[in-house]
Amino acid sequence: MLIEDCLVGEETSIHLIVSGRDYLLLPVAQDHKRAGDNDTGPNTGGMGTYSPAEIVTPELLARIDREICRPSVEAIAAEGIDFRGTLFIGLMLTATGPQVLEYNTRFGDPETQVILPRLATDPLELMWAASQGRLEQMPLALKPGYAVCVVVAARGYPGSYPKGEVIILPAELPPETWIIHAGTALNDRHQLVSAGGRVLGVCAQAASLCAAVGQAYTACDRLQYASKYFRRDIGARQLNRK
Ligand code: GLY
Repeated sequence: MLIEDCLVGEETSIHLIVSGRDYLLLPVAQDHKRAGDNDTGPNTGGMGTYSPAEIVTPELLARIDREICRPSVEAIAAEGIDFRGTLFIGLMLTATGPQVLEYNTRFGDPETQVILPRLATDPLELMWAASQGRLEQMPLALKPGYAVCVVVAARGYPGSYPKGEVIILPAELPPETWIIHAGTALNDRHQLVSAGGRVLGVCAQAASLCAAVGQAYTACDRLQYASKYFRRDIGARQLNRK
């Protein structure tokens, strides 16, 4: 019998670049795990993200670092593992404090899409330094502003969904807005088609979260395929708190 604690609160995604006992905390992101607006419907791999997630105040981040990140890295080292790579810790921010939901030794998807654009330090240099055991020499510099990623899925995801639908990408994108392919392919006529549940990640960066969200949704509205589906409320929780 497995008895699980039902953790209630907001999720947040913490990513560390680890090199043995050294680590750097990357910008904090918040994912939107449910398929539907207002966190309704089934759980997915993630329907959209934004960063920074301001629910994690500097004080809360210091607590997360002290109570979760540092002990986790120390525990890995104490097992005799010289871990060099990405540690992604999924947290639930409960009324009694942050609680760990999961550990992954990989970057989150779609968290990566909003974390990496916010780094002023070259991420490859960071990873190379971590692999070489000289992370402590790496300063971590961040760009100001906000990043958002809206996952454009195939209607039906995470259940069954159609594939092979021809995708028409926007002729023009708003500034500082880009599209990352996830579940796409070329058919035998060399047309771009959908080939997965999460089809595209529409990303934007701007001085404010509101502007970044606006740019991303403009691009989402401009792209076309028959079963196009995306949440309309990525970032809304943070915007509504202001
Ligand atoms: N977005 C959640 C994950 O990558 O596991």
